[in-house]
Amino acid sequence: MAGRWKNDLNWSEVTPKPVWLNRRHLMLGAAAVAGGLLAGPVGAALGGRPSKYSTDEAINTLEQITNYNNFYEFGSRKTDPAKHASALTTDGWEIRIDGMVDKPATWSMDDLLEGVTLEERIYRLRCVEGWSMVIPWTGFERADLLNRVGVQPSAKFVVFETAERRDEMPGLRSPVLDWPYTEGLRLDEAMNPLTILATGLYDEPLPNQNGAPIRLVVPWKYGFKSIKSIVRITLSDRQPRTTWNRLQPEEYGFYANVNPRVDHPRWSQATERRIGGSLFAKRKPTKMFNGYADTVAHMYDGMDLKKNY
Ligand code: MTE
Repeated sequence: MAGRWKNDLNWSEVTPKPVWLNRRHLMLGAAAVAGGLLAGPVGAALGGRPSKYSTDEAINTLEQITNYNNFYEFGSRKTDPAKHASALTTDGWEIRIDGMVDKPATWSMDDLLEGVTLEERIYRLRCVEGWSMVIPWTGFERADLLNRVGVQPSAKFVVFETAERRDEMPGLRSPVLDWPYTEGLRLDEAMNPLTILATGLYDEPLPNQNGAPIRLVVPWKYGFKSIKSIVRITLSDRQPRTTWNRLQPEEYGFYANVNPRVDHPRWSQATERRIGGSLFAKRKPTKMFNGYADTVAHMYDGMDLKKNY
């Protein structure tokens, strides 16, 4: 799959939406002419309907989105996932959904996506390290999925687990993190309409380095919550221990809401740098909840967000 993405390396620094839309139109036309390409699991990642939740900020290029990644299973440098993630085989991918659900099951990607409404969501991704990108995801709200498996009333958290493939993921040889990568959300956060399971970006299936074939995108939280290449979703009544929180609890909280007023112990979170901008561009002030306060702030009413960071 890696080769397909290389054709786009000469795009301008930031792709204005009209240019991208025009390009998308051409791509879909070409795919239709090629015949059959729009069907099946690959087709399922294409052409989500536009979402009212999208930002209209300038979008990062595919080159930027696929060459500056955090995916420690493939190494800890930003350039490692682009180099090594092509080893991940996503054919026949399955996701287990279990725990406090009425119908625990193992789903193929086709089964999972059947009847699901895919949307194009242009979201900011803001990382703890102080950089951000704007990415055109294709994904669906998990409410679709959780309603199908029947969440039991006692469930309060949703736990996500990444694939652990020693033969395909060179990063697993190093004990830098406790594998498999695990993340979690409170059930209401998981059900919030902004939270999506993404299967594509730029109207193509997810590149491996971005978490193929399916990842979480939680745009009001720091990037480490947006877990990649998910193989298991478990409903639980207990707050899970999550990967980064387990490693350095004083640096990475369970909530991890983007918050300019709560600094990471080793650096400020007050400003951010957009990847792809000029090195000399001024850093921008970080927005509370990464700019998504209208849709998510109510979930934290009455909570001390300095304690629950
Ligand atoms: N998921 C897994 N399995 N492993 C990881 O190392 N890194 C996280 C998150 N999901 C990570 C992961 C971090 S720190 C960030 S910032 C985002 O993925 C980056 O997503 P991107 O590479 O698509 O921009």
